[in-house]
Amino acid sequence: MRTKSMSVKDNVLYMGEHRLQDLAKEYGTPLYVYDEIGINDKIRKFKDNFNSEKFNCEVVYASKAFIAPYLCKILEKNDLSIDSVSEGDLYLLKKSGFPMNKVVAHGNNKLMNELIMALDYGVEYLVVDNLTELLRLEYLASRKKKKLKTLIRINPGIEAHTHAYIETSLLSSKFGESIHATDILEQMVEVYRNSEYLTLEGFHAHIGSQINNPNSFISEVKTMCQFMRDFSQKTKFEFKTLDIGGGFAIKYLDEDVEIDLPTMLNLIVKAVEEEIEDTSLKIEKLMIEPGRSLVGDSGITLYTCGSKKTTFSGKKYIFIDGGMADNIRPALYQAKYSVDIANQVNTPVKEMYDVVGKCCESGDIIVKDAMIGEIHKGDTMVVYSTGAYCYSMSMNYNSLVRGAVIFVNGQKVTTAIRRQSFEHLFDTCVYEEKEMKIFDIHSDMLYDLYKQSLIGNNTRFLDFHVPQLQNSCIKGAIWTMYSPDDFNLLKAVKVAMSKINLKDLPGFQVIFGLEGLRNLEKVEDINKLYKLGFRHAMLTWNEANKYATGVAGDANRGLTDEGEKLIKRMEELDMIIDLAHLNEKSFYGVLKISNKNIVYSHGCVKDICNHRRNVTDDQMKALKKVDGLLGLTLAKNFVSSIEEEKDLEHFLVHLDYAVDIMGVDNVCFGFDFMDYLSEFPNDNIVDVPNATKAYRIIDGMRKNGYSEEEINKICWGNFYNRFKDKIMLKGE
Ligand code: LLP
Repeated sequence: MRTKSMSVKDNVLYMGEHRLQDLAKEYGTPLYVYDEIGINDKIRKFKDNFNSEKFNCEVVYASKAFIAPYLCKILEKNDLSIDSVSEGDLYLLKKSGFPMNKVVAHGNNKLMNELIMALDYGVEYLVVDNLTELLRLEYLASRKKKKLKTLIRINPGIEAHTHAYIETSLLSSKFGESIHATDILEQMVEVYRNSEYLTLEGFHAHIGSQINNPNSFISEVKTMCQFMRDFSQKTKFEFKTLDIGGGFAIKYLDEDVEIDLPTMLNLIVKAVEEEIEDTSLKIEKLMIEPGRSLVGDSGITLYTCGSKKTTFSGKKYIFIDGGMADNIRPALYQAKYSVDIANQVNTPVKEMYDVVGKCCESGDIIVKDAMIGEIHKGDTMVVYSTGAYCYSMSMNYNSLVRGAVIFVNGQKVTTAIRRQSFEHLFDTCVYEEKEMKIFDIHSDMLYDLYKQSLIGNNTRFLDFHVPQLQNSCIKGAIWTMYSPDDFNLLKAVKVAMSKINLKDLPGFQVIFGLEGLRNLEKVEDINKLYKLGFRHAMLTWNEANKYATGVAGDANRGLTDEGEKLIKRMEELDMIIDLAHLNEKSFYGVLKISNKNIVYSHGCVKDICNHRRNVTDDQMKALKKVDGLLGLTLAKNFVSSIEEEKDLEHFLVHLDYAVDIMGVDNVCFGFDFMDYLSEFPNDNIVDVPNATKAYRIIDGMRKNGYSEEEINKICWGNFYNRFKDKIMLKGE
């Protein structure tokens, strides 16, 4: 089944103005190619035929069929909504800039964090799968004081006449609450009745996928309307919204029955219009969730043909350079596809082949018994109608990399997803048996917790930092409070500390620190902070204050008399004295009077990147002399002033340089992650944008030849062995 803008010229297949064989060469095979004109045409069909004068109609694209930021943009332009089924979907949609108030959140086992994301992002609807989930959602919504519109997923028990794996509405299906489970549904309604934050707008059902028969949908609509009418009378609740899910079939083979989409949509709308003529049912919005039918027949996959083989028994195979890893559907659902040879499309049919892939599975068959003309090694094979559930279900079996996805629109070709590289296969692997941990000696955790509490978010630690750190090799940190102008430092640290609960971070070790003391009224007040648990401080941020001068202050002004007293007091208290942010005069001023517990928690090498916050060779030598530590930072502007060099490779050059000057015992890491600070979300180097990617530094050090012992010192031991007595909090 050719896509909308495919054509044949000189016996060669084109999409838009491009020969498929040229696209295959340029982007590599397997290659997923979408016909943008075809998708736009489908969108129009949905929009033109799914509407009513009696209620609103909303088309929600089911992103599980295929998702990429480029497609999100097309859908957004056409005012479609999108559904999500996982944290990953929500993350991708948010990151793509898709309006989150047009997202419908699905899933039969939503994780805590998915519920939290749905609340935080403000999705349009969340489809509640079951009573337990509703109770969890209610708890979170009331804790967060966030409102959310919801639908309950109902299993109406409608036979969809499709493959057993894609039927979702048998009485034994795992999705939703049964239409017959009146007790449970009534309990759910009671939860809503008492909820200040959740509203029950209506119901959702989805009976299956690749459904050809309009009667299945009509019977779904009628059953759901009847249910809503009865249940509304029983509970005295008014339900305004009905979402009947997706499932509209597409044609895969010439002999498949064509479903007439406009007629099917009109019939559905009409069925609901008839139902609401009985005024005891008031539907204000009807929703559908097409996935396959929106993208499936506008997508094709291109492969390069390899060898042919005739077995001893006479069976003929043609091998292609992909297979079940990029299209699992034939193996999973016995799905059938049609093929052509793109570079000689109308050649007389010669022989019957099984088109098979390169995976080590006998079931790795893309098309059985395909009648194909003369075929040669290197020909481009096109498999039709692969736009839905092929890329999205693809995998790396046999270490095959996932191919690129491109969109063709006339002359224009857009890469929507790049081809994976072999590096992708390695990305999450641990190179060595032993997993290293990192002590991050600079994090703005306390400041973030405080700032979030000011906007009413009191669950920031649990919602954001815990999941991130659970998924990180960072196992210890100095968590600091930054001090802006006019700031009640004591109050802020108390609020921030009250938000921390390390129970979900077993073994995680914390030292509390202060990033600047401009708000410390007098020297003695440091005692109060010490009592609260603080064992670390920087005298300034970039500013000049009553104690010292930061890098933005006058270069001729250094440590003040008050500053000297403060350093002495910190020394008596055995606190960590952090010289980061000080100008050189203050830096050396401190070192003149103190040589104990000295660190420079976050900075890089000035000789490599001339940033005012980086340290000179002399400063490094001076730190070394007092057996102090330099914590190298991932702030991208400290790593390089050249955009293309703000990356891990260049960060590791700073490390080599610092180790050359200071030796392996006096260097550590103070990352200063800013992904969670709304002011600077993209200010760390590209390869290590947040705590979850810190392992890449360890991998990089290994690649660059650091021994395990050296890595352990730099990542953990150098800091930990010096300062472990200052750990104030440890996850049990
Ligand atoms: N809404 C819900 C709640 C769904 O579960 C699905 C599909 C859809 C909408 C979209 O259905 P569609 O319009 O695409 O048929 N991997 C299978 C299909 C699984 C469908 C899962 N849910 C396949 O390749 O055939």
